[in-house]
Amino acid sequence: MSGNGSAATSSSSIVLAAGKGVRMKSATPKVLHELCGRPMIWWVLNALRGAGVRDVIVVTSAENDAAVTAVAETLPGLEFDTAIQVEQLGTGHAAQLALRQLKRREGTILIAYGDMPVVDAALFRSVIAACDTLTAVALVTARMPLPSNFGRIVRDGEQVARIVEAKDCTPEELAINEMNAGIYAFDETALRGVIDHLRADNAQGEFYLTDTIAMLAGRGDRVVPVVSDDARTVLGVNDRVELSRARAAINERLCIEHMQAGVTIVDPASTWLEPELTIAPDVTIYPNTAIGGATTIGRGTRIGPNCRIYGATIGEGAQITESVVLDSTVGPHATVGPFAHLRDGAVLEPDVSIGNFVEVKDSRLHARVKARHLSYLGDAEIGEDSNVGAGTITCNYDGERKHKTKIGKNVKIGSDTMLVAPVEVGDGALTGAGSVVIRDVEPGDRVAGAPAKSIKKAAKPAR
Ligand code: UD1
Ligand code: CA
Repeated sequence: MSGNGSAATSSSSIVLAAGKGVRMKSATPKVLHELCGRPMIWWVLNALRGAGVRDVIVVTSAENDAAVTAVAETLPGLEFDTAIQVEQLGTGHAAQLALRQLKRREGTILIAYGDMPVVDAALFRSVIAACDTLTAVALVTARMPLPSNFGRIVRDGEQVARIVEAKDCTPEELAINEMNAGIYAFDETALRGVIDHLRADNAQGEFYLTDTIAMLAGRGDRVVPVVSDDARTVLGVNDRVELSRARAAINERLCIEHMQAGVTIVDPASTWLEPELTIAPDVTIYPNTAIGGATTIGRGTRIGPNCRIYGATIGEGAQITESVVLDSTVGPHATVGPFAHLRDGAVLEPDVSIGNFVEVKDSRLHARVKARHLSYLGDAEIGEDSNVGAGTITCNYDGERKHKTKIGKNVKIGSDTMLVAPVEVGDGALTGAGSVVIRDVEPGDRVAGAPAKSIKKAAKPAR
């Protein structure tokens, strides 16, 4: 074994992600299945990046190579390459391929699997640190309840002697509850010394990376176990049951981070978060709410229950209940819901109030606008302090094109008004209940009927 880089300078890694994942029973390659808004492999690469690993080679298959590359490109700061494994002949074979592609160097090389999304940066850091200059390999192990499909750690006294895959275990070996997590920090020279001697003489007829442990231990090299105290962190995802468990674990971690930063989450188990959200202190999230995308939420806002929020900017002190907000802005102290739908660039300025069964699409509602019941507001601009009566519709689509509706300040739109766009309603105007507005309405005018006509004179008391 040759000289080894210190843990702090170690930066090379291999992630194995070419497996078909047959147990997923899916047309989607396993490492692309989604957890908390990101593909499985994103979580592994993000943890590597968090551990300071800058240089990653991912072993992919022909099927998932392009998609895995696209995922890696969303992680700035990661030097990334792939090695395509055409035939999946086992984890040892995958590692061989990657090593052949990598320039030979001295130091530590981390190898991890792409199907362990719950892994965190701290665990990567500790296994890298454990591979000191005297060590051929440090590997993560974890005690787990039986039965289990993980490879078993067979010890000879205190020493790790070998790893035996569950399918190759004797009954005695199957009773061992110390498992191989699938995270290894190898001295690269030591690994290169054994990797090409693997044989596929096992139950699955595969080249096992795990067999390198017995080879290194057998020739007297130092093998250091790093025992993880939380088996959940190293959960391998092989089927959709494990996928749901991993998702719950990641989600819990995301909720804990926000709670520790001052957010009240009433029920973390039914609150689904994605990474990279910005949530201010003293926000309260009620149950059965999902928040994702590049969402920002201001201080004191209350969201939920039963909300779906994606790509939203929400000001402070807003209140959103039982509603869907997608790619939209909710201003400070605005109220939304229950049962409202904002989408495609809806902008609510401060103190706007949107009530039940109101859909707002690509529209700007200025301060204090109220639309409290049963409306569709699309491609519209509504001036401050205007009130939109129940059942109002912006008829923005003529069957071919979308048109704009412009409503001024202090306007009162009567219940069940149809605004046939393109159309403008001036400041201070009023429409009667059931109006069908097909022509612009002058400021201060009052219109009613179908089609709507001015009733201003008639409305004055006759004398
Ligand atoms: C593997 C380990 C096992 C460990 C477990 C932890 C081996 C032989 N076994 O078992 O000891 O307890 O992980 O989760 O390593 N892959 C390739 N190319 C291949 C085969 C697999 O890239 O030819 C990738 C897969 O995409 C996957 C990873 O390697 O991400 C592990 O393969 P998998 O088949 O899931 O191994 P396990 O049976 O879970
Ligand atoms: Ca696995």
